[in-house]
Amino acid sequence: MLLLALALALQTTPPGEDAVDPYLQSNANAGATPFTGTAMLAAFHGRAGIDRIADDLVTRIVADPRIADIFKGQDEVRLRRLLKEQFCYILNGGCAYSGRTMREGHRNLGLQTADVGALIEDLQAAMRTERVAFHAQNRFLAKLAPMKRAVVER
Ligand code: HEM
Repeated sequence: MLLLALALALQTTPPGEDAVDPYLQSNANAGATPFTGTAMLAAFHGRAGIDRIADDLVTRIVADPRIADIFKGQDEVRLRRLLKEQFCYILNGGCAYSGRTMREGHRNLGLQTADVGALIEDLQAAMRTERVAFHAQNRFLAKLAPMKRAVVER
């Protein structure tokens, strides 16, 4: 208990990011179990490819007229960092995920099913631009699909 309190108290805010309320960090917060082996990491062109896809995704979603308003005033630096970590963790790229759970991270955003559809389309465009093989795109999307339940509010 003391160790937990200490760990929470010691959480620091990375440069350029807004502070968030302390939470327990765990890979389990990523919302999916990682792939095994290296095939998916290779299909996404390694850590560099994952970073390019996450960066491209954020660039697309903040400019996507269907969902751009949702990102106004949000911490884009933190979002970029955590999407890279989450994707890298799930693709078995050797990263740890240090963000909140999908439910906590999207609480009070009022997200609807259509918002998830728009984000997934933007992710597909980012993966296409990186020339990720179609079957690998779909295997990754299948990992993300169950997260819809946690991010959509009704
Ligand atoms: C499966 C789909 C999704 C995944 C994998 C995902 C992933 C993430 C991650 C990793 C974070 C960071 C959590 C943290 O701050 O600790 C986050 C935050 C956020 N996400 Fe998503 N997300 C998804 C769907 C969506 C959708 C559909 C929208 C809106 C259209 C959205 C908008 C946001 C916003 C605005 C934040 C920042 C919240 C804040 O700064 O407090 N997300 N998301």
